Amino acid sequence: MNQKPVIIALCGKGGVGKTSMSALITKMFAADPARRVLAIDADPAVGLSYPLGITVTKTVDQIRKDLIDKLGKDEPVHKEDLLRQLDYDMFSALTEKDNLAFLAIGRPEGDGCYCQVNQLLRELIRDIAGQFDVVVIDGEAGLEQINRRVMDMVSHLLIVTDGSLKGRNVAETIFRVGKEACAYEKSGVLFNRVKHDAEESQILEKNALPLVHVMRENETLRDFDREGRSFFDLPPAAELDGLETALRSFIVR
Ligand SMILES: Nc1ncnc2c1ncn2[C@@H]1O[C@H](COP(=O)(O)OP(=O)(O)OP(=O)(O)O)[C@@H](O)[C@H]1O
Ligand SMILES: [Mg+2]
Repeated sequence: MNQKPVIIALCGKGGVGKTSMSALITKMFAADPARRVLAIDADPAVGLSYPLGITVTKTVDQIRKDLIDKLGKDEPVHKEDLLRQLDYDMFSALTEKDNLAFLAIGRPEGDGCYCQVNQLLRELIRDIAGQFDVVVIDGEAGLEQINRRVMDMVSHLLIVTDGSLKGRNVAETIFRVGKEACAYEKSGVLFNRVKHDAEESQILEKNALPLVHVMRENETLRDFDREGRSFFDLPPAAELDGLETALRSFIVR
């Protein structure tokens, strides 16, 4: 491993294209066999595995629940044993496909305080991230879950939004909160699903955030998503090349 991994988190309002953009970023980096890429689905609704063409076997949340069951038993548990077991289990939750690995966080916890377990998990995710060159995190809508679990390790925050006032307001809030709470190397906004030039001009006129790219509504992308097809099979397209170029200049150090 040459240097600290690039850890990219995608945030934004619901349905703006976080998962689609996460899949495209993952695909872009995984195209270079020299790079080890980890994609993390941090959305409890889980969806990133589909555009990546990956089948999920076990989620981190399932591992966490198994561990809580174990902790609930009477026998005393030693932290070292627990860590070793978690380390092992966590790797069993990784789905690997060539130079791409995938991890799904799964559904959020129920009642009760499992701070100790969450802390252990965070340490483990941090350990795992260190073994990759690029980590892409597809977040749930808003900041809450990612914030708690892994946000302190993120180097690049990519805020995704559509052109709606609601989407832009959420984007601005995330940008502001992120700036106050986290020490990113970079954060910026990606406008997605923009329909035409006039919409693009209006958006750019109102935008006060660092701009990464304006991505147009793309029929092929929508069809692939609807059919649950892997984005690795997408045909080449100038629009996708444009997105890649913009993302590279945002992400690559
Ligand atoms: N550039 C695009 N062109 C056309 N359709 C798109 C584009 N980006 C995303 N979509 C479509 O928009 C819908 C929402 O996309 P996606 O699931 O990626 O959003 P999301 O932000 O991850 O949603 P959620 O908040 O529910 O997780 C999907 O049907 C997807 O195919
Ligand atoms: Mg999503």
